[in-house]
Amino acid sequence: MGNFFNRDVVSIKDFSRKDLEFIFSCTDRVASLKPHEKAELGKGRTLGYIFYEPSTRTRMSFEAAMASLGGSSIGIFDSKTASVEKGESLADTIRIMDLYSDVIVLRHPLDGSSRFAAELSKHPLINAGSGGEEHPTQAMLDLYTMLKVKKRIDGLNIGIVGDLKYGRTVYSLLYGLSNYDVTIHLISPPTLSIRKESIYEAMKDLKIIEHENLDDRILSDLDIIYVTRIQKERFPDPQEYEKVKGTYTIDTSILGRAKSDVSIMHPMPRLEEISHSIDNTENAIYFKQAAYGKELRAALLALILNERLI
Ligand code: NCD
Repeated sequence: MGNFFNRDVVSIKDFSRKDLEFIFSCTDRVASLKPHEKAELGKGRTLGYIFYEPSTRTRMSFEAAMASLGGSSIGIFDSKTASVEKGESLADTIRIMDLYSDVIVLRHPLDGSSRFAAELSKHPLINAGSGGEEHPTQAMLDLYTMLKVKKRIDGLNIGIVGDLKYGRTVYSLLYGLSNYDVTIHLISPPTLSIRKESIYEAMKDLKIIEHENLDDRILSDLDIIYVTRIQKERFPDPQEYEKVKGTYTIDTSILGRAKSDVSIMHPMPRLEEISHSIDNTENAIYFKQAAYGKELRAALLALILNERLI
């Protein structure tokens, strides 16, 4: 188990099962603290975020998490209003944020951007989404949600549906899941199937079965259906997007054919791939997942900012 004090969070691949389990137990611990105890963990510290791509949950949950630890946040979430618009480089933006904050949270459209930034900054850097392959804290909160709802991860049958080609949360999640004994069903149209070369190492440890349709035979086996948005902005050709949009929709008829306790997850934002008609069912856990995101990020920040947790 690694020491998390001052540690960068660039890739889920840098975290072993023991590391993840430690983060999950710290999340339980930090979540159970009284507000005034929690507010000691980040007191007087500043989180600096830089988002070169849109975000709702990731940025707000980091900000809310930092506030719950008694710290504050500063940042850029609309690069058009920052000097990035004048042509300032990522390197200079990171150098400046490094002067003003104790921990940096970065989202950027390029693969490798977070690794580059982490090498530049003296303070720890957390990857909040880089390119099409990494979103490590999303994978951590996804795994934590599975553990909280299903009480285990080993032994689960997990279906991952939608845009498996461009959805970075899927890649981080698969690497995270490769620490566990799970069966994965990947369901996507052929044009959006997983990029094998990007999950090569995870494939050695995972049982993966690919499908084009979410038919009843697969559906009745799944404990979790993790749904993803078709990543319109990452399509090189808009016409290709038009061909695949709306391919899968999880609705009451799908739920009726699935296990009665199947859990529906989504990193969000959800578009038409999950019907609003299932939002109030016990099966829909995507809002709970977003709530756990704040708890997990609070624990992660507390671990990074403190040599010892209480
Ligand atoms: C995801 C992302 O940015 O990759 N958002 C998130 O952080 N929950 C998913 C998405 O945009 O579809």
